[in-house]
Amino acid sequence: MSLLIKNIGELFDGYKIIKNTSIYIENGKIKSIGKEEKADEIIDASNKFVMPGFVDCHTHAIFSGYRAFEIEWKIEGLSYKEIAERGGGITYTVEQTRKASKEKLKKETMERIEEMIKHGTTTAEIKSGYGLDTENEIKMLEVINEIKNNAAIDIVPTFLAHATPKGMEADDFVDIVIEEMLPEVGERKLAKFCDVFCEIGYFSVEQSRKILMEAKKYGMLPKIHADEFSCMGCSRLAAELKAASADHLLMTSEKEMELLADAGVVATLLPATPFVLNEEYPDANKMLRYGIEIALATDLNPNCYVTNMQFVVQLACYKMRVKPIEALKAATINAAKALKMEKEVGSVEVGKKADILIMDVPSHLFIPYKVGVNLIEKVIKNGKVIYSQQ
Ligand code: NIG
Ligand code: FE
Repeated sequence: MSLLIKNIGELFDGYKIIKNTSIYIENGKIKSIGKEEKADEIIDASNKFVMPGFVDCHTHAIFSGYRAFEIEWKIEGLSYKEIAERGGGITYTVEQTRKASKEKLKKETMERIEEMIKHGTTTAEIKSGYGLDTENEIKMLEVINEIKNNAAIDIVPTFLAHATPKGMEADDFVDIVIEEMLPEVGERKLAKFCDVFCEIGYFSVEQSRKILMEAKKYGMLPKIHADEFSCMGCSRLAAELKAASADHLLMTSEKEMELLADAGVVATLLPATPFVLNEEYPDANKMLRYGIEIALATDLNPNCYVTNMQFVVQLACYKMRVKPIEALKAATINAAKALKMEKEVGSVEVGKKADILIMDVPSHLFIPYKVGVNLIEKVIKNGKVIYSQQ
């Protein structure tokens, strides 16, 4: 099976812009760029803008129970912590997720993935973390893995130590994570990464280190929800453990930026979260000046219901003053790095998976420019059209 995408007006290949080109694909992989080879199938891009599929490298896409009821509290000005104290937050989602059957969780998550695909996501990470007991964390990971085996896009499962269940001490929960959850997740190879919500009121640096070091023994690579509400040494830990990424980073100090840069940890920025919480955005330009590679992701979760990576790119440009090219790089090749998948996905390069978006705009500048509508014309995964606008 071969496919030629011809008449590309502008191609962003993950690094730079190439004008007036074509992409030739064989058996789902990119074979050549700029050569109009004979192909079984031809797609005419009609001079439009073409780019790699989005890599959404941080999502909590699996959960049950929407939290739309929190919106009015947010508008009143309640903080994330105050909302959690009023009965919203992670605890609410945990109750709903525990009650949900595997079938229900699968159906709801698949619907979200369909929404992500329509907006151009061709690779997505999904975390557990709303079970908070062995049975339910495993249930979530089993569903993520079932979806991984059936979805049209690449799915990357992550085990997340998200919070301590009501009425339990964090240290006791950490013991359960280490003695029960990680051995099963590790032996059954249910997760590629282990992530921890390292934050005041959630897990301390010491507790996070303990969990992540143990997970490493099972081959799970570390990721950290770091410096979201406070700067308590979590990104320092990410640097120490050479984590695949440190995520959120709203409160990160310059000293820690230096450490992240030296350790080569990708900074995954999630601007949709401060958007829905009415907070300040991370200082992406300072991170770039320190030489940190930044990635972008939706953080899709019941607090931040965003499935659209185009919107995340727009927020990065307008609210974090990131240049369009940098934002697109962060949403594709750098996001692939945050998932240790940069050899397979995230760019239009010979030998990589043909994960390609044809956008209904003439240039990359229109991605942040045209806000509020879906700019996708076609989504191609492994050389096959999996979504088309008409
Ligand atoms: O990444 N910060 C922690 N976890 C999620 C939110 C989880 C929730 O509120 O349900 C996040 O933003
Ligand atoms: Fe998150």
